[in-house]
Amino acid sequence: MKTFNLCLLGFGNVGRALVRLLAEKSVEMRERYGIEWRITGVATRRMGWIASAEGLPVESLLRAGEFAAVASRGESRVTNVREWLAAARCDAMFEITSLEPLAGEPAVGHVRAGLEAGAHVVTANKGTIVHAYRELHALAEARGRRFLFDATVADMPVFSLFRECLPAVRLRAFRGIFNSTTNIILEEMERGGAFDDGVRRAQSLGVAETDPSYDVDGWDAAVKTCALATVLMDAPLPLDEIEREGIRGLDPESVRAARAAGKPYKLVSSAERADEGRVAARVRAEQIAAGDPLAAAGGTSLIIHFELDILPGLTLTAHHPDLQSTAYGLLSDFINAVRAET
Ligand SMILES: NC(=O)c1ccc[n+]([C@@H]2O[C@H](COP(=O)([O-])OP(=O)(O)OC[C@H]3O[C@@H](n4cnc5c(N)ncnc54)[C@H](OP(=O)(O)O)[C@@H]3O)[C@@H](O)[C@H]2O)c1
Repeated sequence: MKTFNLCLLGFGNVGRALVRLLAEKSVEMRERYGIEWRITGVATRRMGWIASAEGLPVESLLRAGEFAAVASRGESRVTNVREWLAAARCDAMFEITSLEPLAGEPAVGHVRAGLEAGAHVVTANKGTIVHAYRELHALAEARGRRFLFDATVADMPVFSLFRECLPAVRLRAFRGIFNSTTNIILEEMERGGAFDDGVRRAQSLGVAETDPSYDVDGWDAAVKTCALATVLMDAPLPLDEIEREGIRGLDPESVRAARAAGKPYKLVSSAERADEGRVAARVRAEQIAAGDPLAAAGGTSLIIHFELDILPGLTLTAHHPDLQSTAYGLLSDFINAVRAET
C-alpha cells in the first residue's frame, strides 16, 4: 500500500469532478491496486498556490464557501509552481487549467515543472500535447515518470487504446465530432432557439471551454485534431496548418432545414496522411447523412472513426459523456501511472 500526494493545478469544473471521483473510487483503488491518496496541493489563478504536505481537507475544497478558508491556511510563502510542488511533496500532478490554444502556456510550463520535480503528470489540457508533446514525452521518459492525457480528446481512452492494444498499426486517417458545446448549440438552433441560448446551456452543463469562443470558432476541435495527429500519426501538425471554420457562419434557417432533411450539421474534424509524411486536416461544419459512421453521435455524444492499415474502420463513441467521464480519464491515467509502484 502506498499513499500518493496529489496536486491539482486548476480547480474548476474538471478539478472538482476529479476530487469527487477520487473520493467515490477510494475503496476500489485501495483494495484492487493498493493505492491510497491525499490531496496536498491545489492552485488556481485567483486563489494562488495552496499546499499542505499533511493533506488538505477534501470536503472543504468542494464547498465554495470553505475553499477560501483552506486557501488562507495554505503555505503563504509559496509563489510559483516549483515551490508549490516542493511544499506539497507532489507524487502526481493534474494539469487542468483552462485551454489556451495558441501557445499552450502556462500549462506547458506547469507540466515541465511537474516532471522536473519528479512527479507523474496527467492532464486534460490538450494545449500541452499540441505545443510540446515530444519534449514533454521525452522529459517524462528521461525522469522515469509518466505523462498521460486520455482526458484530452472526446472523453474516450483513445491514446491508451493505441498505446496498449493496437501495436504496429498505421493510422491512415480519422474523422470525428469532438466538441459537445457546438452539438448543443446546433441542436438548440434546430429546435428554434437562439445561438446564445445554446452557449448558455453548454455552460450550465460545464462542458463549454472557459472562453466558449474556443468551442464556437473551432479552436477546441482543431486542438484535439492536432493532438490526435501528433501522437497517433507521429506527425506534428502545427495548429495554423489546420483549415478551421467554426459554426458562427451557419444561419438558423439552414440549420433547421438540414435537420428536417435528415442531414443535420455537426462540427466535423478530419485528418489524413498527405505527401512527404505530412498530415492534412480540417475542422468545419458538415451535414451528416444517415449512413455516415458519424451519424451515430446524437446529442452531446462524441465520436471518432479511424481508418487503419489493418482494420479498415474502427469507430468509438462516447455516449453523452459528462464531467465524470473527463474526470475518469484523469483517474485512470493516474492509476495506470502508479500501479507498478504499489
Ligand atoms: N469541461 C469539460 O467538459 C472538459 C472536458 C475535457 C477536457 N477539458 C479541459 O480541462 C481543462 C479544465 O476545464 P474546466 O472545465 O475545469 O475549466 P474551468 O471550470 O474554467 O476551470 C479552469 C481552472 O483553471 C484555473 N486556471 C486557469 N488559468 C490558470 C493559470 N494560469 N494558473 C492557475 N490556474 C489557472 C482556473 O482558476 P480561476 O478560476 O481562479 O481563474 C480554474 O480553477 C481545460 O483545459 C479543458 O480544455 C474540459
